Amino acid sequence: MEAKTCVVLLALVAAAAVADAQRNGRNRGGKPRGPPQLPDGDVYSWARNVSGSSVDESAFVPTGSNLIIMRSFDEGLRGLNLSRASILYDFSTPSPLVAIGSFGPCFITNTNLTYQDVIDELDARNGSSASTTAEFRLDGTSLPLPLEQVRPLYDNYPSLRRACRDGRVIMTTPDVGNAVPFETEDLTILVVDGTVAIRIPKRIPRAPRPIGGFTNPSQNRFGPRVQGRRPGQDLFTTGTQTPSQETSTTSTTTTTTANANPPPSV
Ligand SMILES: *[C@@H]1O[C@H](CO)[C@@H](O)[C@H](O)[C@H]1NC(C)=O
Ligand SMILES: *[C@@H]1O[C@H](CO)[C@@H](O)[C@H](O)[C@H]1NC(C)=O
Ligand SMILES: *[C@@H]1O[C@H](CO)[C@@H](O)[C@H](O)[C@H]1NC(C)=O
Ligand SMILES: *[C@@H]1O[C@H](CO)[C@@H](O)[C@H](O)[C@H]1NC(C)=O
Repeated sequence: MEAKTCVVLLALVAAAAVADAQRNGRNRGGKPRGPPQLPDGDVYSWARNVSGSSVDESAFVPTGSNLIIMRSFDEGLRGLNLSRASILYDFSTPSPLVAIGSFGPCFITNTNLTYQDVIDELDARNGSSASTTAEFRLDGTSLPLPLEQVRPLYDNYPSLRRACRDGRVIMTTPDVGNAVPFETEDLTILVVDGTVAIRIPKRIPRAPRPIGGFTNPSQNRFGPRVQGRRPGQDLFTTGTQTPSQETSTTSTTTTTTANANPPPSV
């Protein structure tokens, strides 16, 4: 549903922008400006059977990109102990990478799927239903990457600049049950080929903000949210943020978090 809303919103924004460009073009008496750069691509949608319930999902494949963005936003997810998420599959290099965005930070992992595997699967699902049984576990308890590691990652995978706009990038590892000096919980989400449970530091429910005061950002191990971004908010459709803004916010966050919580001993 939300994916449909996004598509409609995107169309409205595009229409407004085109009208605006035409107006400007006329006013100047010159050539009308071209429409803004909006991604062209294929949209897929399907219902996934999960524990006897059905949740709506969709995917967007920007034309000519080697990227696949899956969106799992169904209202029914919460009742199934699943979290909403956008999952970016980047097959643009020989080392495909998956970026999972849910409540804030971006969790990075890899995949043995190929671009064609995913496209074939989406073609088969489109307009119909799917059910998956694979379950994966990941350890997402490490601190966000420091700036000097985020930069080369973004250079190698430019799609992450958008997908991880929140500014906090966490490299996951296979969950081998490493002991960590804090409580953890699972962030469980649906990905193309199954369900992924990411072990993360237990999140403290947001306390009501004291009147005239601020909540203490160090309560949250991930550090403060850098931008007011909704969970899984659209990748690739909005945002004019420059790399320098991105990197400086990342830097601030990393420092704050590192001071608040020493890294877990591995
Ligand atoms: C998926 O199905 C919808 C509706 O049936 C259709 O409009 C769309 O073109 C399909 N997507 C692809 C990539 O075939
Ligand atoms: C969701 O988690 C809660 C608490 O852990 C549990 O009581 C409930 O049975 C779970 N629901 C589903 C559908 O798994
Ligand atoms: C990919 O395959 C290797 C070898 O079979 C396996 O060890 C690894 O866990 C797989 N990775 C994922 C993300 O499934
Ligand atoms: C999903 O469930 C519906 C009924 O709830 C069923 O008709 C459909 O065949 C199922 N799809 C798959 C892929 O299992």
